[in-house]
Amino acid sequence: MKDVYILGIETSCDETSCSIVKNGVEEINTVILSQVDIHTLYGGVVPEIASRNHVKDIVFVIEKCLKDSNLSMNDIDAIAVTYGPGLIGSLLVGLEAAKTVAYIFNKPLVPVHHIRGHIYANSIGNGMTFPLLALIISGGHTELLYMKDHFDYKLIGSTLDDAVGECYDKVARVMDIPYPGGPEIDKLAHQGNDTYNLPIPLDDDSFNFSFSGLKSAVINLAHNLEQRGEKLIKGDLACSFQNVVIKSLTSKTIRAMEEYDIDNLILAGGVSANKGIRDEFAKLSSEKGFNFSTPHIKYCTDNATMIAAAGYYLYINGHVSSLEIDAESGAKFV
Ligand code: KG4
Ligand code: ZN
Repeated sequence: MKDVYILGIETSCDETSCSIVKNGVEEINTVILSQVDIHTLYGGVVPEIASRNHVKDIVFVIEKCLKDSNLSMNDIDAIAVTYGPGLIGSLLVGLEAAKTVAYIFNKPLVPVHHIRGHIYANSIGNGMTFPLLALIISGGHTELLYMKDHFDYKLIGSTLDDAVGECYDKVARVMDIPYPGGPEIDKLAHQGNDTYNLPIPLDDDSFNFSFSGLKSAVINLAHNLEQRGEKLIKGDLACSFQNVVIKSLTSKTIRAMEEYDIDNLILAGGVSANKGIRDEFAKLSSEKGFNFSTPHIKYCTDNATMIAAAGYYLYINGHVSSLEIDAESGAKFV
């Protein structure tokens, strides 16, 4: 069968990225320009600044990706792009760029839901094996998805309030760690001890999650320590907090694997870069005999490689769109 090359574009938040992926599994080349250093100055992503930087960077990123791949537009079968969810101004830059390229070079346009992208980060190098349970953990999402096939899936649990990445970033703020705080908490957690008593959130029979209570518990703990003139030990707080997150995520996910009788478990999203979370899932999966997959660290946070990989499966199954498609900041996956 002829090889299929997808050019992917991702601009849903603060990364401007373009990638070319072959047959949904082989990364040919990826370019990512991150704006994190700019947004750190403001303690979080500023939407207006994000879209302006996408406008500044998008042409460079696409041109560089193609040039360094030693391919030309003639080799590209389709253009995949994130249409939502995300920051509307940011999404529009990538979508309009993708439409322009598709129009000029007469290529099919493949709109990709950002969450589908995160899931298919697991396809790079491996392909996808169904049925599977996907735990999607990112700055905006905490979802358990049962996937029978590429296009047959259902949501079995999600967060009732904050997403897990959002919780990491807010807890980091209490500890004076700059945005995005997730990676630093992960590092600190491995240097500290589990000494602070924090509640396991929504410890019930559902497959839903909740992180706002945990965030408040950390904030209260920090205030109480301050009032008593006691020092907050960052490593210990990071370790105690991360252990609670791990317990919450693993207990519900493993129970769902057993209840739905599934063998394949994948993690997806920015928080799946977390070493503590990856290690615990790997350990439990090996004990339970599950096939466990996480994306390579570089494909966990936002990137266009995952969009091109997801775009491949959409394209070969005929999920192409007209150039009329609009960006959807609140696009639902299920
Ligand atoms: O998937 P992503 O790049 O953007 C969204 O789609 O939301 O995820 C970003 C989130 C941020 O909240 C960041 O703090 C978190 O992923 N993150 C981590 C780690 N690396 C990134 N959280 C915990 N541990 C990490 N190692
Ligand atoms: Zn993302």
